[in-house]
Amino acid sequence: LPTPILPAFAEPAFAEPALDAIADALSRRGYAICPAALDDGLVARLEARLQGLAPESWRAAGTGRQHGFAGPGATRHDKTAWLSADDAVESEYLRAMEILRCGLNRRLFLGLFDYESHFSIYPAGGHYTRHLDALAGRSNRAVSAVLYLNERWDADDGGELLLYADAGDVALERIFPRMGTLVLFLSTEFPHEVTTARRERHSLSGWFRVNSGDSSRVDPAR
Ligand code: OGA
Ligand code: MN
Repeated sequence: LPTPILPAFAEPAFAEPALDAIADALSRRGYAICPAALDDGLVARLEARLQGLAPESWRAAGTGRQHGFAGPGATRHDKTAWLSADDAVESEYLRAMEILRCGLNRRLFLGLFDYESHFSIYPAGGHYTRHLDALAGRSNRAVSAVLYLNERWDADDGGELLLYADAGDVALERIFPRMGTLVLFLSTEFPHEVTTARRERHSLSGWFRVNSGDSSRVDPAR
């Protein structure tokens, strides 16, 4: 199988060859690791935006339904702030993810109908125990997308994303949360965890959703 670790793509974000490669990795392996999928300037603006958010923008993250299905046993230590199109930088990122959403739909017929995302900050010493972002048939999160916003992240800073194939204990991938790395994976297929970060860790987590409503019930927003 081809490697799911993709090369850097030239601007603009998510041009056709990048979309082809991401769709190919997602369909063959169920995940894609993109060390440089987005424009560096946009990534830097997102990190500046995260740093500039007012304290009252942040909420302690939960593990209940509105956060996916991490389950009662899961613990996480990040605080979160949801993105909105009202801010110019957040809007720029949401537009890029819209290109990705449409590009994946055209190639994979996934029926992704929207995208929701939040910034996360894990404090030094924080982690997120192993969990699934969605349970098949019980959630409309279909594809998870995590973008990392940390300059200079060393191997001994911890805070790795570990992706598992199944119930086993051997990680498929260990990913450092380095500036500009974007990881995509099928939300119902890959248990994952964030190992203890030795210093503050910045990221942006999002989910492409499918519409699980029907004619009698409009699918609720998160
Ligand atoms: C999440 C999550 C992984 C990461 O927000 O659900 O699993 O590497 N994040 O930040
Ligand atoms: Mn998760």
